[in-house]
Parts: sequence; structure tokens; C-alpha cells
Amino acid sequence: HIDEVVHSWPGRLCCSRFDEETGAFLTIAVDSTQRGPAAGGTRAMVYESFGDAVRDATRLASSMTSKMVAAGLPMGGGKSVIALPVPRAQLEPEVWQRILDRHAENLAMLNGSYFTGPDIGTGPADMDVLHQRCGFAFGRSEQAGGPGSSAPETAHGVYVAVRAAAREAGMPELDGATVVVQGLGAVGMDVARRLAGQGARLVAADVDALACERAADELGARIIGVDDVLGFAGDVFVPCAVGNMVDDVVASGIDTRVVAGAANNVLASDSAARVLSRRGIVYAPDFVANGGGAIHLIGREVLGWGPEKVAAKVEDIAHTLERIFRTARALRISTDEAAHRLVRESLDQAAA
Ligand code: NAI
Ligand code: PHE
Repeated sequence: HIDEVVHSWPGRLCCSRFDEETGAFLTIAVDSTQRGPAAGGTRAMVYESFGDAVRDATRLASSMTSKMVAAGLPMGGGKSVIALPVPRAQLEPEVWQRILDRHAENLAMLNGSYFTGPDIGTGPADMDVLHQRCGFAFGRSEQAGGPGSSAPETAHGVYVAVRAAAREAGMPELDGATVVVQGLGAVGMDVARRLAGQGARLVAADVDALACERAADELGARIIGVDDVLGFAGDVFVPCAVGNMVDDVVASGIDTRVVAGAANNVLASDSAARVLSRRGIVYAPDFVANGGGAIHLIGREVLGWGPEKVAAKVEDIAHTLERIFRTARALRISTDEAAHRLVRESLDQAAA
């Protein structure tokens, strides 16, 4: 695994630390600081191996670089991954506090070249602690003087992206469309609510039975098994769980006209994007579609924007996607390749 990371990751710095007392393995990857300090969330979950954790951190950090460029934000990309010994919900509070303290020490050592924020397994309350310890954290709670959760603006952006991708696929309205939502967490549930508001028929799955119950009761979602989501026949697939779900084989079986969601690194490989493209499925590149959270955090905390300006910038995700779709059509490349091209051109221009 480490060999693969070393050879395939073009980033700047990746540092890891094992905390013997808690059994947590903490990694911070700084992909780029070309446009400004790196930023990206802290993901805390269980991994099969420490190699998997490092690989996830480096790939996610690279996606953050692309996300910042696509959203026009003056930041670089980075990510923190904390590989936990057991799921976060099973950790004693004092064990989690000790892990956060170690993380804050690591952030302090990077001394502002990297700022963290919330991601899977962490939220505003954790950012309050990290900010208090070292200052290098975005996304504190509103009570602590921060802008609060990034999930609502992420969901807003994903909704905008679903609509733009659906238009590209020849579906100007979502009324009556079957939308398959994978993951009903902070973002997925919010996106589902917005889509239901447009008259979409919801089909949803989550490993968490309570989340499914809520979606069924509140939004009338039809609940299906987590193993039945990929390949379920519908109009739009909205991945809002974890990444690396769509490899070439899964891409060959996807049975919707659109794929647009929040999950970071939803595609397990570049070739999966080409498979989707060949099959005429419109894919909204993840780092563009899910940029709302970054726009919220960096807009509010670095650029001094108010909520209206943040919302307007999130709406701009539709224009960025339209540009990407046009390029993909003109050059006969996948939308993912077109999005990466846009990012490369922007970085090259800035470097020239
Ligand atoms: P969350 O942790 O609140 O929700 C994730 C949901 O996915 C949970 O309900 C979980 O039970 C479910 N899940 C996990 N594995 C699953 C599986 N195999 N099948 C179905 N459901 C499964 O996380 P959140 O904040 O909603 O984020 C969702 C995704 O969006 C993540 O990949 C995250 O990195 C990404 N994202 C989140 C942003 C934010 O501002 N919260 C910003 C940009 C991306
Ligand atoms: N983790 C979220 C993302 O992937 C939100 C975030 C954005 C956190 C920017 C920190 C910095 O976009």
C-alpha cells in the first residue's frame, strides 16, 4: 500500500503518528499549498489497515486541491484521517478527547500550512476543541463563534449539481423522477428532502436502520438494502455515503441516467468515469458537486462572506458543471477528465 501511495501521489507532505495509549493512527496529508494554506476535513473511522488510512488521506487531500480550484477558493488541499481502533460511537469520551489532543498537537506542528474541518466521524463540537487547542480548524459551532456545520451548504450544492446533471441528461424537471440516495446522514438526508420537495420519488439505503426509518416516515422514501443500491434502476443515483464505491464493474451496472452526489472520491478509478461516459451516464464530478461545504467554511471564515454570498457561490456550481459538460462533449472525454483538465489549466495559469 505504502509503495503504491509513494509512487502515485504527487502531494507535498504526508505525516503519520501512532498513539499507543488509544490505538489510534493519525495521518495528515498536505497535497498542495500553491494557492494558499491547505484545508480539508478530519475523517475518523475504522480502516482495515494503516496503509488504507494513508492511501485514503492522500487521495482525499488531492481531491481537496481540485475542489478548492473548481470552487475558486484561495486555498490548497489537505486531509486528516484518524484510523480508530473501534467505531467512533463505541469510543469512551475521554479516549476520543485524548485522540483529539494528539491531532491538535500534530496540527500545531504544521503551524498553519494546513487547516482542518469536519468530515465523516467529526463535527462542529470537535472543531471547537481543535480550534481551542491550536487554532487551525474551520467549522466551529455557532455557539463557539464559528459558522456551524458545512452539511446544509454541501447538500444545497449537491442539489444544484443533481439538477444541472439531470438537465444535461435531458431531464429538465425532477417531478416524478426516481432518485436513488445512498447514505442518509447529514448531507444525504438533506439532499433527499430537497429532491422530495421537487416531486422526486425517493429510493434510499443506509446501514443505519434509524436513518432509513426517518427517511421513510418523513419523506415517504422506499427503503432498499445497502447491497441493492448500486445498480438499482432509476433516473438519478446520489451517492452520499463513503467513497470508492464505483469501480469499473459497478460503473458497468449502474442503471440511472445521472450520477451526482456528495461522497468524496466516489469513483474508485479514472477508468470508472470512462465506463460511465461510454454508457451515456452523466456524471457530475464529486469535487465539483460537493464543493458547497468548502465554500461555506472558507467563504465564512477566510473570505468574510455572509450567508447570502455563500449561497450565491454554491449556486455557481451549476455553471461550473455546465462548462465541464460542454468541454466533455466537445473533446469527447469523460466529465471527470474534463473537470481535471479545468483544474490543471487553472493551476498552470496561476503558476505561469
Ligand atoms: P455522515 O457520516 O453524516 O453520513 C454518512 C451516512 O452514510 C451515514 O448515515 C452512514 O450510516 C451511511 N453509510 C455508511 N456506509 C454506507 C453504505 N455502505 N451504504 C449506505 N449508507 C452508508 O456524513 P455526511 O456529512 O453526510 O457526508 C456524506 C459524504 O459526503 C461523505 O463521503 C463526506 O466525505 C462527503 N462530504 C461531506 C461534506 C460535508 O460538508 N458534510 C462536504 C463534502 C463531502
Ligand atoms: N470535509 C468537507 C469536504 O470534504 C468539508 C470541508 C471543506 C472541511 C473544507 C474542511 C475544509 O469538503
